Amino acid sequence: MDRRKFLNRFSVISLSSAGIFGTLGALRLTYPDVSRKQTFFRVGRPDDFPVHTFTFIRQKNIFVYRDRTCMKAVSAICTHLGCVIQKSDSGFRCPCHGSNYSKEGLVLSGPAPRDLDWLKMEFSHDGQLVILPHKKVSQKTTLML
Ligand code: FES
Repeated sequence: MDRRKFLNRFSVISLSSAGIFGTLGALRLTYPDVSRKQTFFRVGRPDDFPVHTFTFIRQKNIFVYRDRTCMKAVSAICTHLGCVIQKSDSGFRCPCHGSNYSKEGLVLSGPAPRDLDWLKMEFSHDGQLVILPHKKVSQKTTLML
């Protein structure tokens, strides 16, 4: 085989492989990966959280809010492209493209297309707070203390 034929075959095989794996990768993105998602996790006891404060749980990308009578949890994942939001004076701010959310998780300015997700919280049998990240609730839903 001469050099020209070898290079032609090599480039056809390389481009075909790239096309096949690129297509498979793109198809894989259309299916949610529910197998690795955690169905619940414990975050501690209510007394671990300061009153009238959003506490960021870095490992889970969630803010937990506590006041004197109740608690609630909001996802720290921006609804635009999934960056982790940060606390701001008005509520929350996304560092990626500048979306702003109120303290209630409502979109104040885009490009975020929708409000933040509030997550179900409940107590475990031993008094620990449990968050169910796959169960969305309304922003008015709270866990009474
Ligand atoms: Fe948050 Fe784009 S990912 S504004």
